[in-house]
Amino acid sequence: MKARILVIDDEAAIRDTMRMILEYDGHDTLTAGSGQEGLAIAEKESPDLVFLDIKMPGLDGLEVLSRLRGLNETLPVVIVSAHGSTATALEAGRLGAFRFLEKPPSKDYVLDAVREGLELATLRRENRSLRSALETRHQLVGSSAALGQVFDQVRRAAPTNATVLILGESGVGKELVARAIHRDSLRARERFVQVNCAAIPEELIESELFGHERGAFTGATEKQVGKFEMADRGTIFLDEIGDMSAKTQAKVLRVLQEGEVERLGSSKTAKVDVRVIAATNKDLEHEIGEGRFREDLFYRLSVIPVRVPTLRERVSDIPELVQHFVGVFSRENNRRPVRFSPAALEALAGARWRGNIRELRNVVERLLIMSPGDVIEASDVRAVVRSDSRPAAAAPAASGSGPATPATLREFKEWSERTFLVEKLREFGWNISKTAEVIDTPRSNLYKKLEQYQIAQDTDG
Ligand SMILES: Nc1ncnc2c1ncn2[C@@H]1O[C@H](COP(=O)(O)OP(=O)(O)OP(=O)(O)O)[C@@H](O)[C@H]1O
Ligand SMILES: [Mg+2]
Repeated sequence: MKARILVIDDEAAIRDTMRMILEYDGHDTLTAGSGQEGLAIAEKESPDLVFLDIKMPGLDGLEVLSRLRGLNETLPVVIVSAHGSTATALEAGRLGAFRFLEKPPSKDYVLDAVREGLELATLRRENRSLRSALETRHQLVGSSAALGQVFDQVRRAAPTNATVLILGESGVGKELVARAIHRDSLRARERFVQVNCAAIPEELIESELFGHERGAFTGATEKQVGKFEMADRGTIFLDEIGDMSAKTQAKVLRVLQEGEVERLGSSKTAKVDVRVIAATNKDLEHEIGEGRFREDLFYRLSVIPVRVPTLRERVSDIPELVQHFVGVFSRENNRRPVRFSPAALEALAGARWRGNIRELRNVVERLLIMSPGDVIEASDVRAVVRSDSRPAAAAPAASGSGPATPATLREFKEWSERTFLVEKLREFGWNISKTAEVIDTPRSNLYKKLEQYQIAQDTDG
């Protein structure tokens, strides 16, 4: 790989040697006789790698190093020095130099450092762009007063170890709130372990949460570590907590009270230090009234309750959200970002948004796919958001809708099943548990169907 390399050294002989070695290997070489000059070149030419002398008149190497860092945090720097004191080497390492070469520099060491440095820079850049993509993906967008209250609660809850119960309709951003609390907490560097209690079949949930020993039950051929243990020192996010069976509720309560878990098939308990965040779109107090949810667990969980408002309560966030999603999709699909006309935004603001932000996100995605122009107009929006002002985002996605007219009996059966499910899901605002209950099928089966027919309100769930 050909690179642009800057050599900063006050000794002309060293600069010449380095230039010879580097150019022989095919690299573009820039040289500077002082720290000051080196920084100027680095700023103007953005080199891929820097060889830096320590002892120079004027700006000394360590100072140059720290300023280079400020210029570009991914830039790899190799120190080349005749005065290799351990203290200097340590300090250079602390400032982010990744190699230390003795003078006079030997060809093999120099080329080796170039190879390693370029690799390192690539990794650093990838890492940085992945991290920023993730951050954008998990960013809570919106500046409405209603969302502002959520931000306040997140800020207050985050630094504590208190259990948080996040409440709100489907698609309002409960998961994002949970992640935000973890990210702003003292546990941010530890794991965030998510468990969707509704998606895991009843008979597996306990071993999923608490783990099991080998042979604990038929089929337990290997020992499994539970999610609570995995989340030790970090955060566990119990999503759809309202769907947990009475037996599991009792066990979770025990973890909250005692701070210890017991693997299935084991009599030993293990201490865990886990912060619990739970979420549900169910009305838990109603569930308590119906005898489906333990009151004592409810009080344990809702030390800090956070209610996430529906999109209908914060219509003013729509333009910002639209812009955010356009940015995300354009970046992911390498597309030129489009603009929504004011009338188009108004049309979006008038829709009912039963599926909340997730539904809005899907509508934006569909509009981007279906409208080739640079500007999305109100008419484009109306084509996707149904005329009775109920958004049609819940309708089958183009890719998963199957044949327009089923040709075989099997196709017809699948087509009708899919249509039925979409209709019901829409009717119950994409509340999976409720829909499953009403159509009398286990939640796990409904999840399986969603996957089979690619019925999705959202692709990242
Ligand atoms: N304030 C927001 N800013 C940006 N994106 C958001 C926001 N709120 C939600 N989203 C997006 O909407 C989708 C749904 O959010 P999330 O999964 O957090 O909702 P939820 O409340 O957990 O839904 P469910 O009850 O169905 O599990 C995700 O794609 C998420 O990124
Ligand atoms: Mg969720």
